[in-house]
Amino acid sequence: MKKIEIKTIFNEQKNRENLCVEGWVKFNRDNGKIVFLEINDGTTINNLQIVCKQENLANFSQIKNYKFSSAIKIIGDLKSTNNQKTPWEMLAKEVIFLKQANDFPVQNKEQSNEFLRDIAHLRIRTKYQQAIMKIRAELAFAIHDFFHKKGFSYISTPILTNNDCEGAGENFKIVDDKNNPFFPANASLTVSGQLNAEAMSMGLKKVYTFGPTFRAERSHTNRHLAEFWMIEPEIAFCDLKELMKIIEQMFKTIIKKTINRCQDEFNYLTQKTQKNMVAILQKLVTTKFVKLPYEKAIEILKDAYAKGHKFLDNNIFFGKDLAAEHEKYLCENYFNSPIFLYNFPSAIKAFYMKQNKDNKTVAAVDLLVPGVGEIVGGSQREDDYEKIIEKCQQRKISLEPLQWYLDLRKYGYYKSAGFGLGFERILMFITGVDNIKDVIPFPRYEGYLKY
Ligand code: 4AD
Ligand code: MG
Repeated sequence: MKKIEIKTIFNEQKNRENLCVEGWVKFNRDNGKIVFLEINDGTTINNLQIVCKQENLANFSQIKNYKFSSAIKIIGDLKSTNNQKTPWEMLAKEVIFLKQANDFPVQNKEQSNEFLRDIAHLRIRTKYQQAIMKIRAELAFAIHDFFHKKGFSYISTPILTNNDCEGAGENFKIVDDKNNPFFPANASLTVSGQLNAEAMSMGLKKVYTFGPTFRAERSHTNRHLAEFWMIEPEIAFCDLKELMKIIEQMFKTIIKKTINRCQDEFNYLTQKTQKNMVAILQKLVTTKFVKLPYEKAIEILKDAYAKGHKFLDNNIFFGKDLAAEHEKYLCENYFNSPIFLYNFPSAIKAFYMKQNKDNKTVAAVDLLVPGVGEIVGGSQREDDYEKIIEKCQQRKISLEPLQWYLDLRKYGYYKSAGFGLGFERILMFITGVDNIKDVIPFPRYEGYLKY
């Protein structure tokens, strides 16, 4: 008797005898003489149908009482069927009950995402969460694969830090013992691995991080988390133009790979949400992304307002930090395409971005996508030691904890560029899920720290 996983059964498509499957009950129905169980073992989102006939099973009368999510083991023979929905089923010779699930709060019926969110420790047992989390895992793999094939070195950057990379005052502070401090300076959780990635790129040329980042951002939106994962590549000798090329290529490659590897998951999500993400994504990977200077974006928005489009905030001017509604207008109404918005006013962007020759903008880029908005933020870095110091001073950023970073400019720092891709944001985009809290296993946000 050989143990087999359900994914292997569907992949191999072979009649086989005396196999053993372990999993959880997902459906249980009977017609008196036969009990049909559907079980899932987590290796695929698809369930295996088990046919339990009275004449084969001594414990037949108990089987119909096996509840949703209880654990069972079946020994039986695999048979192909003529049924498209269940092309393979197992005829049970022995059904062994392993563990009951009593009063399990998630049942077969459709549950709201809000309800499931609050039982995050159990929701992975729904097909919906299984599909999303399998796509999440495949997407992470596709990202590593993309950078690996391009010759990037995967690096780890610190989670504990004493700097605020984005300068937005959103670091979570670590409470240290005042009488006997563990760290000499203000310790906090990192908002970005970028500064350390820059240092590493000066020895490895092309590096990337893929790690958790933390922001005490009090934004109650469906696209902000207090703990999220970010991919941050950094490339020496790279400028803004080349950076946009890499972002576009990465975006298209990882999406193509994930669609290919997650066909069952996308089929299921399409059925459930009535959004055909695969069709949307397939179109996107063949479209050239729009490149739009910030100044031009302001003109478009002003013009839209002049022609009668109403924004919640209609005060549009050069220097404004665009809100989600403005990004949405550009992306969805005006271009209906992903947009590289670039050359932002210096004052609304972080201290480390390279000053352009016009002296009012910096070489920064955001990638905006329909439905989600900003998914990537990046820039060419300021390489001039004096300028970067000046920027810090203007913004009243304390130089002392950053001195090591500023010093990089003294030792052969010619040029580098990099970006941060919000992992949950791209997952929202790919899956069509409209709340970021549903694409991470255990979400953390203001006021919520369960599980
Ligand atoms: O634009 P951000 O703040 O850029 C940086 O952190 C740079 N240091 C990156 C770099 O150049 N190495 O953040 C990058 C991306 C955003 O575009 C967004 O996708 C995501 O991170 N992000 C969040 N995702 C979820 N919840 C939040 N609170 C997020 N804040 C940013
Ligand atoms: Mg940003």
